Amino acid sequence: MTSTTADSALAADAAEGLWQDPPVLPTKWLYDERGSKLFDEITFLPEYYPTRRETAILTRHAADIASTTDATMMVELGSGTSTKTRLLLDAFAANAAEHGRTFTYVPVDVSSEMLRSTADVLATDYPSLVIEPVLADFTEPGLRLPETDGSRLAAFLGGTIGNFDDAARHAFFARLSEALSPGDYLLLGADRVKDTGRLVAAYDDKAGVTADFNRNMIEVLRRGLDATGLFVDDFDHIARWNPKKHRIEMWLRARRDVDAHFGALDRDWSLPAGAEILTEISTKFAPDQLADELSAAELPVVTTWTDDADDFQVTLSRR
Ligand code: SAH
Ligand code: TRP
Repeated sequence: MTSTTADSALAADAAEGLWQDPPVLPTKWLYDERGSKLFDEITFLPEYYPTRRETAILTRHAADIASTTDATMMVELGSGTSTKTRLLLDAFAANAAEHGRTFTYVPVDVSSEMLRSTADVLATDYPSLVIEPVLADFTEPGLRLPETDGSRLAAFLGGTIGNFDDAARHAFFARLSEALSPGDYLLLGADRVKDTGRLVAAYDDKAGVTADFNRNMIEVLRRGLDATGLFVDDFDHIARWNPKKHRIEMWLRARRDVDAHFGALDRDWSLPAGAEILTEISTKFAPDQLADELSAAELPVVTTWTDDADDFQVTLSRR
């Protein structure tokens, strides 16, 4: 993605979202180069348990996932640094060597710098694998997966599925199901409903890394839309549990009256002190909820794994 294309997409999203009540922006705009680095820091925070829980599950079951699926390609949506994915790559590399085949890994992400640097490092660390990075937005309607001779595994880890609202999640499952062929697999990581205090802490850490990550959205807007009167320091990070929708919501709350001008939109924008922008949701699931939704999308669950505390789940579905 050239920055001009990215900036015009940001302009379109801002024009559509910022004048709504409450103002909203698609979450992918959190992941510029700085945002991607901050998210990586989040995964190491003591309060942010999902990464450690999912890592424990994959450590235990990667070999089983490789042998059960016997896939020749893994397409990972929202791959980020592909750190946990290495557990799967190790298992698939061993499985491919055993059968005298090649295995292809396709990391898909919107964060171009992160995608490129990750693919370079993986190519060095995994000389036996084919690494084919794809810069793409997985929310776009025409989702297509590369072809391979054997079966494919789509992977969607990290609880990123929770970042869709209910309607968008159902639409995503339907599109993914259509993009997969019968016999292909989906590996899905999802976070479960738990103690509210732990949930909120995971999205509002003591060190303030999540706050910096969320507030970076203001900087993305300022830079990408040539804004004046818009300052990161004028916003507070808020993480709030929404009990009705069982999701964490991330908001940015104006500390004072904001009167900004977006040069790229040729428009003024104002937000009174105390008003909030919704930047991200992270839905948490009841144990059987996703299995039911996946069945409805012709992606029935073959196996569900959890960690010792039942905090997080990874399901394997077969199209
Ligand atoms: N899978 C990693 C990263 C999760 S963070 C993990 O489990 O830790 C979410 C990732 O999805 C980020 O790398 C972000 O850049 C990417 N992402 C967010 N929205 C996206 C979109 N619409 N299309 C493609 N990638 C997206
Ligand atoms: N997929 C991650 C999650 O829902 C994204 C995330 C973690 C996030 N911490 C965040 C998004 C803070 C916005 C703000 O857990």
